[in-house]
Amino acid sequence: MGRVVLGMLGLGTVGTGVVKLLGQQRHLQLKKVAVRDKLKQRDIVLPCAVTDDPLQVIDDPEIEVLIEVMGGEKPALDHMLRAIEQRKHIVTANKEVLAKHGPELFELARRKGVAIFFEASVAGGIPLISTIQKGLEANKISSVAGILNGTTNFILSSMEERGESFARALEVAQSLGFAEADPTADVEGFDVAYKLSILSALAYGRFARPESIFRQGIRDISAEDMASAREFGYRIKLVGCTAGGEDSLSVRVHPTLVPLAHPLAAVSGSNNGILVTGHAVGEIVMVGPGAGQMPTASAVVGDIINLASALQLPDFASYFQAAIQPEWACVLPPGMWRCPFYLHLKVSDSPGVIGQIGTIFGLRRISIQSIVQRGSRQGGADIVILTHAAVSSDMDGALSELSKCAFMQGLASCIRIWQEPDKTSADR
Ligand code: NAP
Ligand code: HSE
Repeated sequence: MGRVVLGMLGLGTVGTGVVKLLGQQRHLQLKKVAVRDKLKQRDIVLPCAVTDDPLQVIDDPEIEVLIEVMGGEKPALDHMLRAIEQRKHIVTANKEVLAKHGPELFELARRKGVAIFFEASVAGGIPLISTIQKGLEANKISSVAGILNGTTNFILSSMEERGESFARALEVAQSLGFAEADPTADVEGFDVAYKLSILSALAYGRFARPESIFRQGIRDISAEDMASAREFGYRIKLVGCTAGGEDSLSVRVHPTLVPLAHPLAAVSGSNNGILVTGHAVGEIVMVGPGAGQMPTASAVVGDIINLASALQLPDFASYFQAAIQPEWACVLPPGMWRCPFYLHLKVSDSPGVIGQIGTIFGLRRISIQSIVQRGSRQGGADIVILTHAAVSSDMDGALSELSKCAFMQGLASCIRIWQEPDKTSADR
């Protein structure tokens, strides 16, 4: 294999891991790295030039492969487009730019005959992308679902194991370096939505627009919900899912009550866990580190080695390039899918309340599986309800009607319960 010359944008957590691993690959030469601040102290000795001008990396004619680990939407997008225009191959860990601009990037790459590798963009060190792209190529994929964010899984695991509040668990995650100072992308589900957009492109050939993905974060999950879920035989996880086919997809991320015996319930700490269902293989489960310096660098450098080993082959880009269409996927509105629900209502403790709740649900074809009043408190009572599978728009209607009832003091929680993805269609 000949020597391959690389350039890199970014030398943060992931970039530093990439430099460490590239040191073990003699045929890969990292020539230049671009950073924001050239004077910053780094905990690595670089074997190459450092610049604060990304164009010095992108426009260097000797550099064949651009490693993009700077993150964010802009200017990463412009840099990637410029590199592709110059027929450079891309290896990226950037889920945000792929989810928001995937159709444009892949279409340009196709026209220019270059490949975009992105194993690190979803599930960090778990080889999920190459598994779907190559290992499961003979399958019609019906769903990809799972825990795709290590930070929120760490927070939810701490809340459950130690009875901590969300705020306290977040603080601990930040002090240990799992959560960022601004945790919005992780805890509000944006990070998972980006990953689901990419997984939709791999499994069904089209990216899902991030804004079309139903998204509910974990900020409102309480220690009380955790304990209550446990009593009913569940654990609360932030689960993302893309399911369907080429015509339309159901794509969503939300906290989910997962049965204790389900494989996702056993995925703890900062790990990720993903179930992929294909018509020939059935269901496969992959679990492992979804983030962190070396697991993510493992995915980036794996991509670089794959790419470098094939660079001399004729038409190699079309072999490696995912078969992705330039149009966005048709994503079903969230009201269209069905699943069971867990509800925690705060109500006044007076005669007929449970009867009225039952009537409101019954009129919307929502069947109650279990209803428990958690004692009385001053001025009211807490009622926990588990329903059978219900259509989301029916549940929205029922909750809106309930909110107008004089006995309602508040909806403390409304959390979806795990439903096999092939049973979530709203057709009754
Ligand atoms: P990070 O630690 O914040 O590092 C970002 C790097 O990019 C820094 O070196 C920064 O330079 C450089 N940079 C930022 N803006 C720049 C600009 N305009 N011009 C030049 N350089 C610029 O980020 P990270 O955690 O390594 O993440 C990188 C990518 O990997 C992101 O897309 C992220 O989503 C993805 N990813 C991360 C993980 C993880 O566990 N961290 C896992 C999977 C995927 P300075 O060093 O000078 O500030
Ligand atoms: N912030 C992400 C996580 C890592 O916590 O899983 C990057 O994908």
